[in-house]
Amino acid sequence: MIDPGRLERRSSELARIGGTDTSVSRLGLSADEQRARDLVRGWLAAKGAQVRRDAAANLFARFHGEGQGILVGSHLDSVPEGGRFDGALGVLCAVEAIAALVDAKIKLRRPIEVVAWADEEGARFGVGLFGSTAAFGRLARGVGDRTDRDGISIAEALRALGEQGDPAVARRDPKEIAAYLELHIEQGPRLETAGLPLGIVSDIVGIYHARVAIRGRADHAGATVMTARADALAAASEIVLAVERIARGRPDSVGTVGEIAVRPGAKNVVPGECVFTLDLRAARDHDGLVRDVLEAVTGIVSARGVEASVDDLARVPVTPLDPKIRDVLKRATTSVGVEAPLLVSGAGHDAQNPALSGVPTGMIFVRSTGGSHTPREFASTEDAALGAQALANALKELAT
Ligand code: GLV
Ligand code: MN
Ligand code: MN
Repeated sequence: MIDPGRLERRSSELARIGGTDTSVSRLGLSADEQRARDLVRGWLAAKGAQVRRDAAANLFARFHGEGQGILVGSHLDSVPEGGRFDGALGVLCAVEAIAALVDAKIKLRRPIEVVAWADEEGARFGVGLFGSTAAFGRLARGVGDRTDRDGISIAEALRALGEQGDPAVARRDPKEIAAYLELHIEQGPRLETAGLPLGIVSDIVGIYHARVAIRGRADHAGATVMTARADALAAASEIVLAVERIARGRPDSVGTVGEIAVRPGAKNVVPGECVFTLDLRAARDHDGLVRDVLEAVTGIVSARGVEASVDDLARVPVTPLDPKIRDVLKRATTSVGVEAPLLVSGAGHDAQNPALSGVPTGMIFVRSTGGSHTPREFASTEDAALGAQALANALKELAT
């Protein structure tokens, strides 16, 4: 049986790493993320798991059985000034679910491996789903050379954590894995609106991440007449509004510019350079959304006489999850008394990597309130415990 008190205590303990009050800033591949991994490692080792870390700083804790294993988990990093539940709740519930099976002396036919993926958010280096992308051999070449704002590369960050620096070494054979399960907070209002504690994910949106650099011409803000300017920020602003317009005009699409920086960055200098990010997502025709936005970028910069370069950070296609695992999760949620609805995820998840690598994959959503990627995000212990019990029931069906 799930122990809600233990789940809540551990959730609070984890939230203190990189966190104050309800706000958590535990960036991927940082010392804080490592401390969180060490805390989780201790809980799992105490339950008898064989624990290891891979070259991408993912944590795996294996409970014995024969043949292909069942992988279950989520991530421990957060966005800057994020909440305590995104990712963390999935790891906490996986730990709680396996503890319940161990405590009940359930004999495993297949191994169960709990995983805490490293750097899912990609907040520091720009590469989201980092750890799971590495483990499923889907990293772009040269990704270890990408740097954060201080010029520290991913390879250097990994070495600082005690790894040798090449994340591609983390690749494992997807055929070792019979199924992947992930529990996550919903991060949106649909379960709350429906008055239901749990949902099951049918598909995950396609995601495109890029960094765009606009090069105009820095000049004197007083002496340069308006017709003689090549203002990089003005061009970027027009692109920001085009992203909003295009995403609004397409079905099931969203577009966000969440980071922007101007150089040289002085009130009396026409901006010479502007670098910003693109986050483009759609549940349908994701390629069409990306194409329309990139065409708008080309058109706007050419009309304004500035230049743009687009650095692709990641492109993950729309990801359908496995119908058979969906049925397992349906039985598991029904067994805890919930008629869980099927939901499309607008957030990206590590689950996309196993699913795209051919591993039968499924996700449970737990009702959350207050949005997500903010300290307001919240899930009740009661709902989390129901989710953990459903996860334990699904693991039992798959692994015994
Ligand atoms: C992860 O949280 C994402 O969807 O960006
Ligand atoms: Mn997130
Ligand atoms: Mn997440």
